[in-house]
Amino acid sequence: MSTSTVQTFKTARRLLTGAHASHQLAHEMQLLAMQRPLLVSDRGVSEAGIIATVTAQLNQAGVHQVTVFDAISAEPEMAVVEACRELFVAEGCDGIVAIGGGSAMDTAKAVAVYAGDTRPLAELFGEDQVKPRQYPLICLPTTAGTGSEVTNISILADTQAQLKKGIVSNEMLPDVAIVAPELTLSCPPGVTAASGIDALVHAVESYLSRFATALTEPYSLAAIRKIKASLVQAYQEPDNMVAREEMATASLMAGLAFGNAGVGAVHALAYPLGGRYHLSHGMSNAVMLVPVMRWNQAACPERFVELAKAFGAADSISVEAAGDYVLQQMQVLCAAVNIPAQLREFDIPESALPELAEAASGVTRLLRNNPRELSVQDIEAIYREAY
Ligand SMILES: NC(=O)c1ccc[n+]([C@@H]2O[C@H](COP(=O)([O-])OP(=O)(O)OC[C@H]3O[C@@H](n4cnc5c(N)ncnc54)[C@H](O)[C@@H]3O)[C@@H](O)[C@H]2O)c1
Ligand SMILES: [Fe+2]
Repeated sequence: MSTSTVQTFKTARRLLTGAHASHQLAHEMQLLAMQRPLLVSDRGVSEAGIIATVTAQLNQAGVHQVTVFDAISAEPEMAVVEACRELFVAEGCDGIVAIGGGSAMDTAKAVAVYAGDTRPLAELFGEDQVKPRQYPLICLPTTAGTGSEVTNISILADTQAQLKKGIVSNEMLPDVAIVAPELTLSCPPGVTAASGIDALVHAVESYLSRFATALTEPYSLAAIRKIKASLVQAYQEPDNMVAREEMATASLMAGLAFGNAGVGAVHALAYPLGGRYHLSHGMSNAVMLVPVMRWNQAACPERFVELAKAFGAADSISVEAAGDYVLQQMQVLCAAVNIPAQLREFDIPESALPELAEAASGVTRLLRNNPRELSVQDIEAIYREAY
């Protein structure tokens, strides 16, 4: 845990939460003087009727020039960002509103900083490579989730390099994040499960991060408590508004925590599974969670005591018992939402593991946050345990 250096807590400039928060969109746009929004979404969200509802609400509020871009693939590619920017320019839009899961929000965040730039998109990758954002940006998540509405990163797939790459810049922190649980009601169970476990991974990894702070730790732990209490219910009863609201808040809290403390080896080892074998972000994280945590517990057993308590253990739980308790809770939760327990259940040959380990060991941006240092041999051993 970091205690000595000065830190800035990063989040969206304004944060709206609670049931029906989505009804505030027109008002928030007005505050930003946004009159010709580009709504960035994807087909699943569109087909669920969310875009039609939001567009009708905007029309009713007097906003009539609404352009919709919903041609987003899950796990957005660079070409999609190019196409989205073209539409933004062609329609003379003056602001960007993301309505969707992490894929739509990451696309929108990239377009928001790319729209006013003349350089090729590839030059924006890495840390602090973007110029000041010229257009207002509002994010409304429809999954619970990625927490992308409060983070300064956009993750895009470079299909040629078979890699996922990040644009990292505070310029992508939205002007407004509207975390409205009603937008997640139509989320299919499989997406509820994978994105819910992604939020759990954000919470756990940010708590164990070397860069966790007094501000991020309470969010991490509160998110774990909420996910433990509500994920299975949201999965089994998609219309349960209480469970959806708890999950939406948990996802936001986990986003605030990892947006400042970072995530670690689970995400680093999940990346190549997404890049090469197209497992979804949530699924690849879910399948790596327990194997990585089995390694991490040896590095910081006392940190697992607080994690265990967040997962429901008695306050008296011992350091010796905490690690196993946490691992078992994670396994039970993943199984309850039907996440496959092993890598072999996906279409990945065992012979690919050394190559995956090589790729994951290159994700130093995340590995440096992890409480335990992992060599390429360690990483391969973890993949073998996960297989
Ligand atoms: N920037 C960040 O901080 C950050 C953090 C974590 C993950 N991510 C990225 O987020 C992406 C994954 O996002 P995700 O897990 O939210 O999934 P997603 O955005 O890829 O959506 C998954 C599927 O669910 C559907 N869907 C989403 N919401 C729905 C709703 N309310 N009703 C009906 N269908 C709905 C979509 O149409 C899509 O088919 C990955 O690309 C990942 O890299 C970004
Ligand atoms: Fe994630």
